[in-house]
Amino acid sequence: TARPAGNGALTFKPIPPNKLDTLVVPNGYDHAVVARWGDPVLPGAPPLDVHRQTAARQSTQFGYNNDFVAVLPLDRRNTRALLVVNHEYTNEELMFPGFTGLEALTPDQVRAAMAAHGLSVVEIERAGQTGRWELVRSGRRAYNRRITALETKFDVTGPAAGSAWLRTAADPTGRTVVGTLNNCAGGLTPWGTVLSGEENFNQYFVGGDGAPEELKSKLARYGISTTDRYPSGSRRWDRVDERFDLSKHPNEAHRFGWVVEVDPFDPQARPRKHTALGRVKHEGANVVVAANQHVVAYMGDDERFDYLYKFVSDNRYLKGQSWVARKNNLALLESGTLYVAKFDYTSAAEVDGSGRLPSDGAFNGTGQWIKLVRGTTSYVPGMTAAEVLTFTRLAGDKVGATKMDRPEDVEPSRVTGKIYVALTNNTDRGKAGKAAADEVNPRNANKHGQILEITEDRGDHTGTTFTWSLPIVCGDPSDPSTYFAGYDKSQVSPISCPDNVAFDGAGNLWIATDGNALGGNDGLFATAVEGPERGHLKQFLTVPLGAETCGPFITSDNRSVFVAVQHPGEISGASLDNPASNWPDGDFAKPGVVCAWRLDGGTIGR
Ligand code: FEO
Ligand code: CA
Ligand code: CA
Ligand code: CA
Repeated sequence: TARPAGNGALTFKPIPPNKLDTLVVPNGYDHAVVARWGDPVLPGAPPLDVHRQTAARQSTQFGYNNDFVAVLPLDRRNTRALLVVNHEYTNEELMFPGFTGLEALTPDQVRAAMAAHGLSVVEIERAGQTGRWELVRSGRRAYNRRITALETKFDVTGPAAGSAWLRTAADPTGRTVVGTLNNCAGGLTPWGTVLSGEENFNQYFVGGDGAPEELKSKLARYGISTTDRYPSGSRRWDRVDERFDLSKHPNEAHRFGWVVEVDPFDPQARPRKHTALGRVKHEGANVVVAANQHVVAYMGDDERFDYLYKFVSDNRYLKGQSWVARKNNLALLESGTLYVAKFDYTSAAEVDGSGRLPSDGAFNGTGQWIKLVRGTTSYVPGMTAAEVLTFTRLAGDKVGATKMDRPEDVEPSRVTGKIYVALTNNTDRGKAGKAAADEVNPRNANKHGQILEITEDRGDHTGTTFTWSLPIVCGDPSDPSTYFAGYDKSQVSPISCPDNVAFDGAGNLWIATDGNALGGNDGLFATAVEGPERGHLKQFLTVPLGAETCGPFITSDNRSVFVAVQHPGEISGASLDNPASNWPDGDFAKPGVVCAWRLDGGTIGR
């Protein structure tokens, strides 16, 4: 089918699925590792030595399991930039020699793992005339910073700050938290800060069996066991810091699960946890400035049958870098209104869970944003505002929000204003006692996930009604339950388990995957979302064995795409001593951030 390419068309030749232990990019492109686990990033930091790794060393080195990636230019010529990266979690079996189990780690190894969590802010510089970037390895590096689970202090903002739910013995004010956990995806704000979602924080806590009875249902709703003292896979951080034992400090769990804001341009600024955005297993948050200058953050709660949210700020965004504008904008996420999504359907009666398209030719419908809380006013019967914000999942349950197929990254297109959601999969959909397929989650036992497109009514991001459709229902295109916006399926790449989304300057949608259920390695894909090429999805990159593709981030000059290669070699039975991957250096697997560019220095994808 000859379709006109048009401005911004993606002309790269797609790469085939593969199981190679290397990173693959299309013909005409190259790639390099920008920063990997253990790279020295603070002045005086030692190189990685897995036999001598300590918390002190790790606190000065690039962290583990990089996930979200943002690149913020430092100069107008775009030759220097800040790279801001989340470090979601640790694979101790791939980090420590002689690993025999989490319980057997020494206390300092546990602290080293805590220091490998968090975020890194590092200076990078353009290498040559292409889109290649490198880590700045010497000199002052004034912005370089490690934020860790071990010792970085966070201020808590918003209506739930200081509430009884957040107070602990170590912090009777409920306003200062040590550390951030499981930072997954995130977003870059229009005012130059980075948002980061605290996701599966439950896995860091033990002792839920000994928590106060009245708290147990709340802890359980967030995946914390209230029956086993040490649930299987416990990291046992309680062995070095007893606040991770909920039988002693039951409120500590409520101090995680927030959206975190970091100002990378002010290394002295304390990062903040914003309670106004609610507490869930936050995948991330992406902000758009609405036409009326309020800012709107879109957010997913990554769990089977959990919800999609948005936050609308009370105050308005101010343009520019003046002191007044900066002060105003830095406070925008501290007060506002939190909504949860409820989807209505046009062809619900025809949805049978197979993925077969309804007779009107689309999975689509209308929807509403249900108001949960504004400031200190709750709109949820029987729950205070602080309760709604701290136990947001329970608020969503009460108002009948739509149970989704694991909402991962949610991001508005800067070109069209439409919002794209990666619904990664939900193999429990339709099981006995669980919600069956509906039009927005149209397949039972959903292994491959789908992409959701939301269009706010009248283009008003602050409004409460929208329309929606599914442009892509993922899987192998030969599978009749897949859909690629009606595009010729013989020309699209197979895709499974979309996780992170991003846009290039032309508004093309880039999708990174996690857990490819088709058997190949994970990767990065791109498609137009408007015009005749809508649905022409093509694979741009694959990551090494055992890895998940995170980021992605296309630089503002559209000459580089960054991806985070997370948990390479994370394969059952593999260890540091017996690695399943030796990417990227040929010895043992190290998570790392990669930059890919066009050999001729041209625009990525075109
Ligand atoms: Fe950490 Fe939802 O992926
Ligand atoms: Ca993710
Ligand atoms: Ca994203
Ligand atoms: Ca995921």
